[in-house]
Amino acid sequence: MASGRGSNLAALLSPPPPGSTFPQRTSPGRFVAFATDKPGCPALAHARASDLAILEFPVTRATKPEFEKKVITHFLNHGVEIVVLCGYMRLVSPEFLRAFPKGVLNIHPSLLPAFPGLDAQRQAFDYGVKITGCTVHLVDDGLDSGPILAQAAVPVAHDDTADSLAAKILAEEHKLYGQTISDFCCGRFQSQGRRRISPNH
Ligand code: GAR
Repeated sequence: MASGRGSNLAALLSPPPPGSTFPQRTSPGRFVAFATDKPGCPALAHARASDLAILEFPVTRATKPEFEKKVITHFLNHGVEIVVLCGYMRLVSPEFLRAFPKGVLNIHPSLLPAFPGLDAQRQAFDYGVKITGCTVHLVDDGLDSGPILAQAAVPVAHDDTADSLAAKILAEEHKLYGQTISDFCCGRFQSQGRRRISPNH
């Protein structure tokens, strides 16, 4: 699911860089369906180019429950077991999470639990941190609060701007998300309370 630019989606749907694993190739998972709350968003082009089954539905606060019901039906009709959020900028409901008990994954552009919510790269930059990064986590019913699967760190250079920092974080997101999804689909994560542990992360 995505709401915007879709660069993470594009990275997931592209062939892997040499030497890396990738969910389409190395795990039992493959991408089959896509849904967006923003009809016409750039992410759609990537979903179309990979022949994913597409659902577009314009969402307002009033129509979000209807949208989620449509997405659940659409995904279950296409055999979806694990949902991957790629810049999907809404909270998902407990009902939605219950429909996909194997997991809903998200990528967030900060080292959670620091800087949840919107514009996390700028939040971190304005705060003055020296290291930030990105986090892949399981979605729960809070805001960017589910168990952490993987993180990548990005140092903040003295001459960074919020935009240059966001670009560096995005490049790390593109590497981390595919690897983490692959490991998750292969069952490489174990749970210890809230902790999620895998040999690669
Ligand atoms: C990415 O930076 C992603 O981490 C962020 O939105 C951007 C989407 O970019 N997601 C969130 O902030 C979710 N809380 P993309 O559309 O180019 O993948």
